[in-house]
Amino acid sequence: MSNANDIDNVRKELTKRVNSADEPRVVLRAPELRDLFKKLASLPTGDRAKFGQEINSLKNELLGLVKAKEDQAFEDDTSAIDITAPFDVNVPEDKKPRLLPTQLGSKHPVSTELDTIKDIFIRMGFHVEESRQLDDEYHMFGALNFPKDHPARDDYDTFMTEEGLILPAHTSTMQNRVLKEYDMPVRVVIPGRVFRNEDLDSTHEHTFHQVEGVYVDKGITLGDMLGTIVAFFEEYFEQEIEYKTQPFFFPFVEPGLEFLIKKPEALKKPGEGESWMEIMGCGMIHPNVLKEAGIDPEVYSGFAWGLGVERMVMLKYGIEDIRHFMSGNLEFLRQFK
Ligand code: FA5
Repeated sequence: MSNANDIDNVRKELTKRVNSADEPRVVLRAPELRDLFKKLASLPTGDRAKFGQEINSLKNELLGLVKAKEDQAFEDDTSAIDITAPFDVNVPEDKKPRLLPTQLGSKHPVSTELDTIKDIFIRMGFHVEESRQLDDEYHMFGALNFPKDHPARDDYDTFMTEEGLILPAHTSTMQNRVLKEYDMPVRVVIPGRVFRNEDLDSTHEHTFHQVEGVYVDKGITLGDMLGTIVAFFEEYFEQEIEYKTQPFFFPFVEPGLEFLIKKPEALKKPGEGESWMEIMGCGMIHPNVLKEAGIDPEVYSGFAWGLGVERMVMLKYGIEDIRHFMSGNLEFLRQFK
């Protein structure tokens, strides 16, 4: 039988089924469709493109019919939708309120990777705290050794509420709190969502995630910091990493560094040679920040870092543009199912 006939027969049969089924969406998984795809694989190369296009347009046609049927069923259903408590666990199955039709979703890749990151740090002996999504000027700047009106504040331009509360531009807002609340040695990581008034491009979003790390004890050095950070990255990427550091000014550390990881081929622009992704800021906690939290810098020292989570996930999976994460594009998200 010819390929065109095959497709026509399946079209007739499945259209009939969509029109009569109670759950039309099930038809999209019909074995007849799968068989067409199997047949596609067995065709001579020259015939595949046309047949493939025809199968896809049949699939789209059926999907359109299914959606129309679902929408109609929804319109026809006159029972009220209870939006007050749709997930009350005590309601028996047959009394559960009607919900809008939907497909099963999947966990967002940033959430999955944050869990992996937390797991690694827990195994390394760190506690985990959550950061706040609304904070105040003291934790954003004052407690972090930013003098009033200092131009370094401009690097953290973010959003404010009318009451003067701040959407934090970094997770370092949590440093003072954990330094005050934890006994020595302080070993805490703090994942959180942060916000910046930013010019957007392939590595800059206005809303993204950081994981802050704070480690304080007696006799802690920059060598301890690099050892900890590199051990973490090699566990996360499951391979040795090539990295470099360069000096950078953050008022809350001294010395301060930017930490960069060499980009994999997938993230390079065509023809681009060696290039690096800036992944975190880090450094030895400034004595003023320790003092502000009641810790004697003559006795204790420590380090802190702020890691950009989306950029890590980009490096791990070869994602070329940070804007995919918040795009809501299902094609992108389903790849991580
Ligand atoms: C900070 O936010 C400092 N708080 C980091 C720090 C913590 C330094 C503790 C010292 C001690 P920075 O602005 O460089 O630094 O941001 C840190 C990381 O967040 C960057 O390396 C990058 O990975 C990520 N990042 C920064 N801005 C954006 C953005 N607009 N979009 C996506 N990721 C970003």
